Amino acid sequence: MLAQINETVEYIQSLKVDKPQVGIILGTGLGGLVNEIDIQHEIPYEDIPNFPVSTVESHSGKLIFGKMGNKNVVAMQGRFHYYEGYDMKQITFPVRVMKQLGIEFLLISNAAGALNLGYKKASLMLITDHINLLPDNPLRGKNEDELGPRFPDMSEAYDVKLNDTIRAIAKEMNITLHEGVYVAVSGPNLETKAEYKFLKKIGADAVGMSTVPEVIVANHMNLPCCAISVLTDECDPLHLEPVELSEILKAAALAEPFLTAIYKELVNRI
Ligand code: HPA
Repeated sequence: MLAQINETVEYIQSLKVDKPQVGIILGTGLGGLVNEIDIQHEIPYEDIPNFPVSTVESHSGKLIFGKMGNKNVVAMQGRFHYYEGYDMKQITFPVRVMKQLGIEFLLISNAAGALNLGYKKASLMLITDHINLLPDNPLRGKNEDELGPRFPDMSEAYDVKLNDTIRAIAKEMNITLHEGVYVAVSGPNLETKAEYKFLKKIGADAVGMSTVPEVIVANHMNLPCCAISVLTDECDPLHLEPVELSEILKAAALAEPFLTAIYKELVNRI
């Protein structure tokens, strides 16, 4: 894996990109932050050696380098999901690469279902902790000691300082920001009523199909990270209605400008 990371980093650096300070992963329907980047380079995933290629239609699959506020950033427009068939090492490979390129912080967004029924569709939730129900782990197998320890600590998986800054920004901007626990499932199907009941019971406030692998790998490399969910549907097991992807994207689009405003300001302050 180290050789692959180096090869990919060398390719990207050969394009003369400025060293990024912040990495951003944009979730389903949440690409609007890209409009805030003064773009220097856009690299389609298929051009990047060792990168998997995104397959979901609502993801465009590009690595975007540029300036946002006072920082150099790299943004992933489109991420890789387990349900697409990638393995955990492929899913998290871009995080390894971004770290090696120089990022000091990782900002993540995703679309998720609201299990906490106090949290409404099209609102935001700051992830303060997670539960991993994905059937594999990106750190399984031989540990690369150069990247991080065999048994990484996860007691503060989401950076406390980043989260405090996010809370302050949301307050200043008058943006409702819920907080809670995100549970990752493999998908691609949405959950049954019984599964939503179970996920609520085990302590989750939101459910989605991403983010946790990237957060595990960021913690492995001691890379401070944070994540915000856009809640796209309400998972009430007693009144469950069918959800369409178009509705998820509609709710994501409604909340996306608030997420963008928070992350834009966060990048300036870190
Ligand atoms: N479940 C899982 N993933 C999701 C959901 C959901 O209800 N909504 C958006 N992503």
